[in-house]
Amino acid sequence: MEERTVVISGAGIGIGRATAIAFAKQGYVVYVTDILEREGHEVVQQIETQGGHAVFRKLDVTDSTAVDAVIQEIEKEFGGVDVVVANAGIAHRVPLEQMTDAKWDLTNDIDLKGCFRMARAAAPRMRQRKKGVIIAVSSISGITYGWGEHVHYSAAKAGILGLIRGLAAELGPDGIRVSGVAPGFIRTAQSLSEEHSMGQAKLDAQASSIPLQRIGEPEDVADVILFLASDAARYVTGQTILVDGGLTIRQG
Ligand SMILES: NC(=O)c1ccc[n+]([C@@H]2O[C@H](COP(=O)([O-])OP(=O)(O)OC[C@H]3O[C@@H](n4cnc5c(N)ncnc54)[C@H](O)[C@@H]3O)[C@@H](O)[C@H]2O)c1
Repeated sequence: MEERTVVISGAGIGIGRATAIAFAKQGYVVYVTDILEREGHEVVQQIETQGGHAVFRKLDVTDSTAVDAVIQEIEKEFGGVDVVVANAGIAHRVPLEQMTDAKWDLTNDIDLKGCFRMARAAAPRMRQRKKGVIIAVSSISGITYGWGEHVHYSAAKAGILGLIRGLAAELGPDGIRVSGVAPGFIRTAQSLSEEHSMGQAKLDAQASSIPLQRIGEPEDVADVILFLASDAARYVTGQTILVDGGLTIRQG
């Protein structure tokens, strides 16, 4: 049987790491990519210890040539990429008065254009093969949740929803599905950062205001990504699923 392949950006830690491990357990060949080399190699090692198949490639999603090269490598080795998970992202705290063009551009270059670069690189071969799934990681901040001092992040994450809808419409006739997940408060380096996000104490304090009464774990998001990539989601495209324990539908 042909091996299924998935490439994940920002897969050295957090949601990307959990997603890599989840796909490996389903038998996928997993291309773990990140700017974090040590962490990326550790994920590969963990997957291989569990009997899976993974490869690490250092990849900065702001580098179009490098993104194209990794996708082409997988296509050469395995005939194509079955699933792209565009997960890499940063969420820097920047008050509006300090929001320079450079800070705005960096976040959008990684968080939004990084997703576009991954999709653009994979789409041509997916079209030839008449199959493929592209999944991008947005955020509650891209859908319904206002996050002050993170307006570049919120705009980038909202942009991902438009990217998903446009790509789903354009690529659907060729059998390619494009979907997204929008995580709520998930326990990762991003949310645990005191400087840029809530930090441990504030994060833990949020649990009681979430209908499911806990902070999300990276695996909670990874499993929804896995569902969207699977045949169980064969008639789903253009949608972004909130994975937030009910945070954004809470009343009172
Ligand atoms: N943790 C949350 O509460 C939360 C909520 C909503 C959305 N998200 C989104 O989930 C995704 C994963 O974040 P996480 O929470 O696991 O955070 P994280 O900080 O643990 O992981 C982010 C990953 O992206 C990688 N990355 C950063 N810049 C990169 C670049 N230029 N090229 C390639 N990789 C790069 C990092 O090295 C890291 O591996 C992000 O897009 C994030 O915005 C997270």
